[in-house]
Amino acid sequence: MESNHVVIFDTTLRDGEQSPGVALTVAEKVEIAHQLNRLGVDIIEAGFPISGQTDFQAVREIADQIRGSRIAALARCEAADVEAAAKALESAPNPRLHVFIATSAVHMKSKLNLTPGEVLVRVERFVREARQYVDDVEFSAEDATRSDPAFLAEVIDTAVGAGARTINLPDTVGFAMGAEYGALIGSMRSRVPDDVIISVHCHDDLGLAVANSLAGVQAGARQVEVAVNGIGERAGNAALEEVAVALSARADHWGLSHQLNLNEVYRTSQLVSRLTGMMIQANKAIVGQNAFRHESGIHQDGMLKDPQTYEFLDAHSLGQGSLLVLGKHSGRHALRERLEKMGIAYSQDDLRQMQNHIKRMAEGKRAIDDQELFGIWQQVARQAAGDAHGV
Ligand code: KIV
Ligand code: ZN
Repeated sequence: MESNHVVIFDTTLRDGEQSPGVALTVAEKVEIAHQLNRLGVDIIEAGFPISGQTDFQAVREIADQIRGSRIAALARCEAADVEAAAKALESAPNPRLHVFIATSAVHMKSKLNLTPGEVLVRVERFVREARQYVDDVEFSAEDATRSDPAFLAEVIDTAVGAGARTINLPDTVGFAMGAEYGALIGSMRSRVPDDVIISVHCHDDLGLAVANSLAGVQAGARQVEVAVNGIGERAGNAALEEVAVALSARADHWGLSHQLNLNEVYRTSQLVSRLTGMMIQANKAIVGQNAFRHESGIHQDGMLKDPQTYEFLDAHSLGQGSLLVLGKHSGRHALRERLEKMGIAYSQDDLRQMQNHIKRMAEGKRAIDDQELFGIWQQVARQAAGDAHGV
C-alpha cells in the first residue's frame, strides 16, 4: 500500500547551489536552512561535504542547529566521501546519507571509466558502508533515465539489498518525457519492497522538471527532490513551490499530502533569490512578481466581481497579495479601487482624465505605482480647479 504522504526533499543548498555563478557562504546556507525548516520541508540536503571546507562546515552547522527537518549530505561511491558526509552529519538527530553513482553507459565509460560490474560492486560496498554510519540511506542512480533499464533494475536491487531505504531515479540531464519517466518510476516502484520509497529528481533542460516530477508521483514516487525557485545545475531543478502548490491546489486530483507550510513559500523564495543573487523571472509561477497581478480591464473587472474568475490559487495563503495593475490595459474598475484604497476623492470626469494619463504614461513602460498615481491625480485636480476658475 502506497503512503499518501509525499516527502519533500529540498536540494536548494546542494544541487541549487551548483547553479553557475552561485556561491553561498556558510552563514548564508545556515540562514536558508532555518527558513527551509520554517517552511516545513521533510529533508534538507545541506551539501556535498567532500567538495570543500565550506560545504563540510555548512552541513556540520546545519546538522547542529536544525531541529525538525532531517538533514542529508551527498557522497559519491568513494570511501572518503562517505566518511566526510557521515562526519559532517554527526550531530543531526536523524541524518540521511545520500550515496550516488552514475549508471548510464556514457557516464560509466567516459566519466567513471568503470564497467557495469564494477559499478555494481561499488553500489553494494558504499551503500553498506553508509549504513554503518546511519540508518537512513538514500541511493541515487545518476542519469537513470538514460540507463539501460535491465542494468538499472540490477543496480536498484543491489542498493536495496545493501540497505538503502530510498531509491532516487534522477533525470540528470532533463531528457525524459513525462510518460517515459512515469513508466520508469512505475516499473521500479513495483520491483522494490513497500517500505522502500521511490524518489524523483528532475532537471529542467526541456522545461519539464515539474511535469516530469508529477508524472513520477502519479506512478508511485513518494519523495520529490526540488529546489526553491527551481535553481540548480544548468536550467535547474524542479521548483519546490510549483510541485508543492500543484499537490495542494489540486488535492482533489492527487489525494496526497505534504507537510509544507505554504504561507512561508514567498518569503523562502525571496530569501533564496536575495542570497544567491538569482533573479526570479516576473512571470514565474507561484513566486514571480506577476503571478498574482492582473492588468487587462476584462480580467480586473472579473477579479473585482469575484476573484475566482481569474485566480483559483489564493495568493494570501502563499504569502503573497494579489494586485490589480494600473497599466496600459487596465480598466476603470481597477483605478477606482486603487483610488479608494489610497483615500482619494474623485469625480467621474477626474476618473476619465486620469485614465487617459495612465494610458499615455504606461505606453511602452511598466505599471503605474501609487506615487505616480498620486502625481496624476494632483495634475488632474489642479487642472479641474483651474477650469473652475476660468483660467
Ligand atoms: O541530477 C542528478 O543526478 C543529481 C544526483 C547527484 C542526485 O543531482
Ligand atoms: Zn541533480
